[in-house]
Amino acid sequence: MATTYTAARDVTRAPEDLANLIDGRWVPAQAGGVVEHRDPATGAVVARVPESTPADVELAVEAARRAFRTWRLTPAPRRAEVLFRAAEILTRRKEELARRMTEDMGKVLEESRGEVQEGIDMVYYMAGEGRRLLGQTMPAELPNKFAMVVRDPVGVVAAITPWNFPFSIPTWKLCPALVAGNTVVFKPSTDAPRLARDFIEILIEAGLPAGVVNIVYGAAPAVGDALVRHPDVNVVSFTGSTAVGKQVAAAAGSLMKRVSVELGGKNAVIVLGDADLDLAVEAIAWGAFGTTGQRCTATSRVIVERSVQAELERRLVERAAALRVGPGLEPGVQVGPVIHAGALAKIAQHVEAARAEGARLLCGGSRVTDPALTGGHFFAPTIFTDVTPGMRLAREEVFGPVLAVMPVDSLDEAVDIVNGVAYGLSGSIFTRDVNRAFRAIRDVAVGILYINAGTTGAEIQTPFGGTRETGNGHREAGTAGIEAFTELKAVYVDYSGRLQRAQIDLDLS
Ligand code: UN1
Repeated sequence: MATTYTAARDVTRAPEDLANLIDGRWVPAQAGGVVEHRDPATGAVVARVPESTPADVELAVEAARRAFRTWRLTPAPRRAEVLFRAAEILTRRKEELARRMTEDMGKVLEESRGEVQEGIDMVYYMAGEGRRLLGQTMPAELPNKFAMVVRDPVGVVAAITPWNFPFSIPTWKLCPALVAGNTVVFKPSTDAPRLARDFIEILIEAGLPAGVVNIVYGAAPAVGDALVRHPDVNVVSFTGSTAVGKQVAAAAGSLMKRVSVELGGKNAVIVLGDADLDLAVEAIAWGAFGTTGQRCTATSRVIVERSVQAELERRLVERAAALRVGPGLEPGVQVGPVIHAGALAKIAQHVEAARAEGARLLCGGSRVTDPALTGGHFFAPTIFTDVTPGMRLAREEVFGPVLAVMPVDSLDEAVDIVNGVAYGLSGSIFTRDVNRAFRAIRDVAVGILYINAGTTGAEIQTPFGGTRETGNGHREAGTAGIEAFTELKAVYVDYSGRLQRAQIDLDLS
């Protein structure tokens, strides 16, 4: 069966003019710059986005700094009520938001709905934190003395987010930041700009005061740099490429700011000889070609025991060929476009390098030239086999629908390969052998591990993040997601009425 292509029916939607948000007012970039954003499936202009400069960053940080004075003193349960109300509005508007997401960045509608749901889940979850934000108490070593730990907000948070999850990733950063009492300067990707506006508009409708979140759009590196280095920004939370993330972490680190970076992946599925192959094939196809491979959790390596290699490859190729490629708003489409022409060119380069290094192409391998899809950026679902650990395709993140199959002789060899790359976000193993599953749990060095499930689809109540160059040790989501945005303060209350010297006056009573 050949991959099927579906054309878009309607490409005539009026572009929207977006604005920055500074201190509660929607305003153009001060220097007047505007960039067009196009639907990656059709090429139609969907939005005109402010092209900000450091001068806009200055105003946004100033507004956030001012708003911090009162927001930090608003009781956390009251702050949380804004999130609860926003979650209700988001739930009502889910379908509209999902459609706009698909137009903005191409993922198929069913997945956009899933992402909006993931964001809603996070808004509710972090709203619950408003009545927790748990500290600790512990005994003091001296009599008539009390010891406790409370959580303070840190101050102004810079949230810099990518285009591939243009709603849920902002919720991962903004919700814990806000419920903990911080204020925010939000720099969304200009490659998927409208959901950021929608989310903050809804927070405002739900009661968010002016200045508590400010938006600065801008693709120029100078804008992000000005934000990261601004002396009044206390926390930087960044999701994006490892190359940029290293610069962000270095700049913020040299200024002693809190910095949490969430970066690339080279996620592997291990398929052992005893695996349920039907299940593994479904999970691998979903992980590799869902979201057109543009997730940081996407499956990009399959490490398979040789006894089942040929059978697995046969079924994977059959599965890839059955996928329907096209604009994500069209019913039945399973694989949408990649984000832009630059992404298409980068994916093509990876494919060329893999061929040149001796990997064997099983299917796909080129951009889609079907006349139904001109105007969009489509790449055919691609599988290479006989990929060896030294090849670029085995080591570098492609961020596209390209899968590398790597044969091995044992679980130990598979684990060495999984752990042998720079990234450690998610991983997976398919086996019916509980002993080998637990060995993988012990030995696979990733932040998120799945047993008999693919590498994507983390739930919001568990920590999200990875090892090695996937990040700098922080986790988003779950209870861990609050850590980057709170400062721990140890508080001692001495009610003895006299000087009691810790570690010295041990016999006082
Ligand atoms: C990302 O790819 O940047 O686990 C985020 C997942 C999603 C989040 C992905 N819940 O695949």
